[in-house]
Amino acid sequence: MKHFLEISQLSLDEVNQLITRAVYFKNSRIFPDFSRHRMANMFYENSTRTRVSFELAACNMSIPVVNLDVERSSETKGETLEDTLANLAAMGIDLVVIRHRQEGIQQQLAQRPGIAGIHLINAGDGIHAHPSQAMLDLMTVLEHRRDLSQLKIAIIGDILHSRVANSLQYLFALVGVKELTLVAPKPWQPKKAFFGRTTDSLEDGISNADVIICLRVQQERLLKHEYLDLSVYRSQYALSLQTLAWARPEVLIMHPGPVNRGVEIDGDVADSDKSVILQQVTNGVFMRSAIIESVLQE
Ligand code: CP
Repeated sequence: MKHFLEISQLSLDEVNQLITRAVYFKNSRIFPDFSRHRMANMFYENSTRTRVSFELAACNMSIPVVNLDVERSSETKGETLEDTLANLAAMGIDLVVIRHRQEGIQQQLAQRPGIAGIHLINAGDGIHAHPSQAMLDLMTVLEHRRDLSQLKIAIIGDILHSRVANSLQYLFALVGVKELTLVAPKPWQPKKAFFGRTTDSLEDGISNADVIICLRVQQERLLKHEYLDLSVYRSQYALSLQTLAWARPEVLIMHPGPVNRGVEIDGDVADSDKSVILQQVTNGVFMRSAIIESVLQE
């Protein structure tokens, strides 16, 4: 694939190939040499995991990386993002990882002739998609549970504004997860779920769950009428040792990060032996190497 933009562009074969390569990189620590390529990270929204793991993934493949300080770039002087990319290409950059607040912007840029020489990777676009996160999440699930057709997975939180939940719905449908439940208070439920059923009951949603994916409350994305009192949200939806008792005893606890301890998840759950949150972060480096390889091989 020339660009990595969203899960819906991937076939099941492509998903399986990415997982296979990421697992190979993790186990072997052997990476292909892509030193003739040049990568730029352009993050218009804050990030720790995604930005650093794309940089480390590129370093593992001997790719020099430029982290553009987008607040000081010449876009602030009126240059369009398309022109900025064309200028980066003119300096030899052929791979750009973009996180942006505007939904669909990477998809729009991918159609523009001015960036014909660049491969684009979507590192998150507003509330729309976060496909590399979904892929590393799937890799992490598969390290613990091979038979996806038997799995009950629950995603808890602000589903309405979650690009992670969107990408996971497409991915879990594609790979044949048995059951997906989206757990959210009514104002944060999706208008239309692509896959899975929606409930406002935490007990209903996580009963007998094999995997629970807890989401951060993204206060910065909430509109006025969507605000909920955090203490009320916490009392009804937080993952605690008590509420966890509804799930299967061997349940996996996941979270894309950043974690707000004491809000959507208690510290003793996030740090428990059921938690694979840091394993997700580790896997992000290897999955992102697999994604970079697949676009540069096109
Ligand atoms: N999961 C995730 O996207 O984390 P960052 O915002 O830190 O990149």
